[in-house]
Amino acid sequence: MLTSCASKTLAAVRGGMRAIATSGVQRSDNLFVHRDTPEDNPNIPFEFTAENKKRVEAIMSIYPEGHKRGAMIPLLDLAQRQYGWLPLSAMHKVAEILDLPNMRVYEVATFYTMFLRKPTGKYHIQVCTTTPCWLRGSDEILETCKQQLGVGIGEISKDKKFTISEVECLGACVNAPMVAVNDDYYEDLTAKDMQEILRDLKADKISPPGPRNGRFASEPKGNPTSLTEEPKAAGFGVQRCIEFGDEPKDDKEGPKK
Ligand code: FES
Repeated sequence: MLTSCASKTLAAVRGGMRAIATSGVQRSDNLFVHRDTPEDNPNIPFEFTAENKKRVEAIMSIYPEGHKRGAMIPLLDLAQRQYGWLPLSAMHKVAEILDLPNMRVYEVATFYTMFLRKPTGKYHIQVCTTTPCWLRGSDEILETCKQQLGVGIGEISKDKKFTISEVECLGACVNAPMVAVNDDYYEDLTAKDMQEILRDLKADKISPPGPRNGRFASEPKGNPTSLTEEPKAAGFGVQRCIEFGDEPKDDKEGPKK
């Protein structure tokens, strides 16, 4: 009797359990599990340059005693900017500076996709393929990048100049489709624009970032469609008694001028 009750309860619990989705990590082109390789192992020395050591001091000085670990992301970012990507020994250096176990740094560096855990080209082309960009032609932009550079997603070109990543929304949806090249955003792109940007980069020329369709930022293309009238004077819409030039009738209605 007891056994049958227990097995019924177990079946009910199992029936109510939801599967845990795990496909995200497997499909990503990021490195979530470290394996020692000739270019990434703990025996490769990493040291900040003299100039960056001053930056490290400046960053650390922002954080009060007892909260120095708050400097972890800026320090990882600095290490990545110096090295081009984030090797294991750079993470160990950051842990050493912050006086933390290495694991605390691994946890952060592998959580944020802005930290590149494998060799990355001088120009990191991040193509957004989330819905607004996809609806506006990101497939064509991605295909153009692959064809022009001869590399696939997550790969580095033979000359070590280019890496292509497919990324989720980079927050410039109103200028879709867009790509980020290192720190710069290129927006309102066509395949022809992408070809021009890549052609310039191959010659180490940086095309001016921003929208490519004549827009200054994210304003409507063509004429404004809202806020087209002269702004109303100050006080518009508030109670008459506090509008400019209107005397209150008595003390209860508001302050006298
Ligand atoms: S969907 Fe591409 S920037 Fe938001």
